[in-house]
Amino acid sequence: MSQQFKALLVEQPEKKVFTRTIVTRSLDDLPEGELVVKVHYSSLNFKDALSAVGNPGVTRNFPHTPGIDAAGEVVSCSDGAFKPGEQVIVTSYDLGMESDGGFGQLIRVPSKWALKLPKGLSLKESMMLGTAGLTAAMSVHELVESGLKPDAGPVLVTGATGGVGSLAVALLAKAGYQVTAATGKLDEAAYLKGLGASEVIERSAVTEGSERPLMKPRWAGVVDCVGGETLAAAIKATVPLGSVTCCGLVGSPDLPVNVFPFILRGVRLIGIDSAEYPMASRSAVWQKLAAEWKLENLAGMVDEVTLGGLEEKIQAMLKGGLKRRSLVNLLDS
Ligand SMILES: NC(=O)c1ccc[n+]([C@@H]2O[C@H](COP(=O)([O-])OP(=O)(O)OC[C@H]3O[C@@H](n4cnc5c(N)ncnc54)[C@H](OP(=O)(O)O)[C@@H]3O)[C@@H](O)[C@H]2O)c1
Repeated sequence: MSQQFKALLVEQPEKKVFTRTIVTRSLDDLPEGELVVKVHYSSLNFKDALSAVGNPGVTRNFPHTPGIDAAGEVVSCSDGAFKPGEQVIVTSYDLGMESDGGFGQLIRVPSKWALKLPKGLSLKESMMLGTAGLTAAMSVHELVESGLKPDAGPVLVTGATGGVGSLAVALLAKAGYQVTAATGKLDEAAYLKGLGASEVIERSAVTEGSERPLMKPRWAGVVDCVGGETLAAAIKATVPLGSVTCCGLVGSPDLPVNVFPFILRGVRLIGIDSAEYPMASRSAVWQKLAAEWKLENLAGMVDEVTLGGLEEKIQAMLKGGLKRRSLVNLLDS
């Protein structure tokens, strides 16, 4: 009999109706792939919440197990790329989107989606970071590569209490930058300062005056997780030759901006796509997260849940009300 395991299963019993239950699945239910991994930990990302409620921009085929993040031990690898027992991280590509993902105790994937757990990180720590950590680190890496220096002035992070935002605040502070955290949850100011933000501002303070074609230059750099008016205002208030990274759309997928910040101030807009980030660059960023950018306060940035605790977190995330990242423990599920 094929190996059995527990998983969160999203089903679509009728048009526009999606149910989520924890079921026993079998290895035969999983897509083809060379690599089978016993998942120890996963984490909840915005994309997972969208997949779990049937958003067709993420997942079109059901039944489906979401989870774009997984870390665990290799069970088998038919092409010899990994040895049984080796510890690996599998994130992004198609994991948890159209391929069954990390909210199951087993995944079966192409071996080229996996990377060896870097020395210096445990499986648990790797999923405290997860795709949010990878995305935050890619954003910081791009700002550093664009020439942003720690003494250049305030670096804005939007959606600061979110997964990507909070990790970007902590990583920028660790790298010596002065961070301004913009949030809709001012009651979380002490938490954001604890992560290293020098200043915490209300979300609306970023967009104030953004009807003007250009705003007073304020930000030496920006990590934006929100999109829409927020990203547009951040671009208009970036200093000459400053860079802005764009990874998210929790506010809106639109970008109502003009060309003036680009042609009069030389502002650069850098897109971040963690899903298709090439493996060599991905490994280099994970190595940084395990060494010079290793965050000591990761445990304080997550709530640990089992599969049974996911529903509440998914609903809170969709309302923009989640205060910590959710680490999913599959070993105890
Ligand atoms: N491009 C990539 O590779 C990549 C990778 C990972 C994530 N993402 C995207 O990045 C975004 C953030 O992901 P995440 O996992 O960090 O999500 P998250 O944990 O849900 O955080 C999003 C944060 O944005 C703020 N927010 C929520 N609704 C908002 C609204 N309507 N207007 C303005 N701010 C709002 C909230 O923070 P405050 O209350 O503190 O403002 C919220 O905590 C998502 O759009 C996600 O799809 C992209």
